Amino acid sequence: MLSFLEDNDQATAAAARNFVARVLGLATHEISLDSKVELSHEQIGKLLPLLQRLQSGEPLAYVEGSVGFYKHDFAIDSRALIPRADSEVVVELCLENLTDKSPLRLLDVGSGSGCLIVSLLSALPRADGVAIDIEVGALELTSLNAKTIGVDQRLQLLRSDCLAGLDAADRFDLIVSNPPYITHGEELGPSVAEYEPHSALFVTNGDAMQFYRRIMIEAKVHLLPKAVLVFEIGANRQDDLALAANECGYQVLEQRKDMCSIVRAISLQLIA
Ligand SMILES: C[S@@+](CC[C@H](N)C(=O)[O-])C[C@H]1O[C@@H](n2cnc3c(N)ncnc32)[C@H](O)[C@@H]1O
Repeated sequence: MLSFLEDNDQATAAAARNFVARVLGLATHEISLDSKVELSHEQIGKLLPLLQRLQSGEPLAYVEGSVGFYKHDFAIDSRALIPRADSEVVVELCLENLTDKSPLRLLDVGSGSGCLIVSLLSALPRADGVAIDIEVGALELTSLNAKTIGVDQRLQLLRSDCLAGLDAADRFDLIVSNPPYITHGEELGPSVAEYEPHSALFVTNGDAMQFYRRIMIEAKVHLLPKAVLVFEIGANRQDDLALAANECGYQVLEQRKDMCSIVRAISLQLIA
């Protein structure tokens, strides 16, 4: 059965081997092509459909149903974008702009799995917040992860088109967002386009800045004095965002690179 792994490319085979080991509770080195491990029918029945999903190109995180992000494991499935390691710098930049000395109120626009807002609330025990998403399925995942990680008592879930559904009086110390920013025609890995939700990826009007502009404009009435807006951006989009920010009345505070040295997170503040 494990010869199945040999047919894949190396990276998929390595991922599949790790996966098999985890499912069977074995060390990775025990799962090799010359392994003498005898699998029961039950184990094979459990593994085979999952391995076939991997072989067909479905991302490992969806097949496994969870992915590590920042300090926690997040449940994940096709209802939300898979949290990317790149996005951890977004969490770091947010945390550097906050101190947990006083109660804080945070907003995540487009929460998906909840990886950003849940990581923030977990790191800031006195903070509470709101997670907005337009997709019910994404909010269900945010809710599940908030419960598992123990921050659900401090997180309100809101199905809304950007900030439109927020209570007019609601104010925040920090708004974070990793909104859709892919324009149609932009190159994406095949498994991304095939398996991840298009509503999490694509803008709808051909403008990569579509959601950033909307969020910046709609956020204005929801920002406490000195509040910070932190965005994740696509590769090489920092100049576009700086321009859009300026047009919307914000100044760039800081840019932060991800582990591939690509500017990935940008903090902004309203120009006084
Ligand atoms: C790029 S994903 C980010 C998910 C998560 N925050 C992360 O960083 O992995 C964008 C999210 O925005 C949500 N979204 C798309 N359009 C939206 C809208 N008009 N209003 C609110 N959320 C929206 C999508 O459903 C998706 O969950």
